[in-house]
Amino acid sequence: RENFWRSNNGEVVPFNTDPGKLEALAKERLTQNGWYYASSNAGLSYTHTANRQAFYRHRIIPRMLVDTNKRDTGTEIFGHKVSAPIGFAPVGINKIYHPDGELPVARAAKDLNLPYCLSTAGSQPIEDVAEANGAGPRFFQLYMPHDDELTVSLLTRAHRTGFTACILTVDTWQLGWRHDDVSTSNYAFYHGIGADLGLSDTVFQKRLREAGVDPKTQPNEAGAMWIDNVWHGRAHTWEKMPWLIQTWKEISGGKPICLKGIQAVSDAEKAVQLGFDGIVVSNHAGRQVDGAVASLDALEKIVDAVGKKTYIMFDSGVRGASDVVKALALGAKFVFVGRLWIWGLSIMGYHGVRHVMQALLADLDILMNVGGITDLRQLDRTVLESYPKGY
Ligand code: FNR
Repeated sequence: RENFWRSNNGEVVPFNTDPGKLEALAKERLTQNGWYYASSNAGLSYTHTANRQAFYRHRIIPRMLVDTNKRDTGTEIFGHKVSAPIGFAPVGINKIYHPDGELPVARAAKDLNLPYCLSTAGSQPIEDVAEANGAGPRFFQLYMPHDDELTVSLLTRAHRTGFTACILTVDTWQLGWRHDDVSTSNYAFYHGIGADLGLSDTVFQKRLREAGVDPKTQPNEAGAMWIDNVWHGRAHTWEKMPWLIQTWKEISGGKPICLKGIQAVSDAEKAVQLGFDGIVVSNHAGRQVDGAVASLDALEKIVDAVGKKTYIMFDSGVRGASDVVKALALGAKFVFVGRLWIWGLSIMGYHGVRHVMQALLADLDILMNVGGITDLRQLDRTVLESYPKGY
């Protein structure tokens, strides 16, 4: 089929990496449940749309006759030298997209030398993902249980297996109201898939025994218990954050801890005051609060307020290299992508992820060459022409 990747004796023919075409190919490959889970946004998709529109408000001013022959996409994050300021956003239950789940994604991230962020809702044990990621830089995204012993267990396993930062997601105490997803009762579907990452935890296994649930004969009950633990619907508050910071610092010997899902300036300020090492300005790809501000608009304000005091990362809506450049020019130091690599994984596992992310790197390198950008770390707002919000 046109656009499709034909694998011939290990030789691969690239499929078209236009994001719209990737999405269409992924839709063909996934079950309806899988497609609805991956593609659905909160409510009326206002936030998802706003995320994309915000990029149109900023245009890059290309510069000519600049010596871009020694250009460099590389940067550093938490002490790791990486190929580009682009990382794999944490995405749960990857077995929806590929039978090997998180493993091919972690392998592709290592091979491209881009940081990989594992979700607490992953469908493979932390240890196996770490092995697949090998020497690659990796971070652990925490959905924080209310069971402190379980939190400590997860963080300890992550530290022992080489995850060098903890990223606490604070915008998802429960899943947003996503019409498509709700329509297929995906709650039951998650139980079937099972988040092995949690099921294999010794503290969680203890909880299963206490509740009299045998995960072998009652996988749905065990899955439900795990889901209730991470997507339990009960919010954590700022009061709990000093405990988490201290706990992770003690477990990891002082490695960074960041908050993901920040959109308000005052929340960013609070994170800095409490001693978090960074924040990810994100609205979860528009899947949580429908009608929320565009993540790129939030980024600008947050950079103005705390950009000099903390390490600011960004995600939600990135589909191409120009989006990466715009976010960096507005003051983000690092950008994560989610759906782009999910489509790659759904289309062709390891090769699909690698192809999509490699295409993004190529797009970025070419944009720098033709746009007169030599070093992404030097980018600032002078490279942008920004229009007032008019929508
Ligand atoms: C996510 N995201 C997410 N975030 C997180 O902290 N833990 C998780 O388990 C997940 N799971 C997840 C599943 C799916 C299907 C999607 C689309 C997203 C949010 C993710 O980390 C990131 O914030 C967004 O995906 C970034 O937006 P784009 O790049 O997808 O537009």
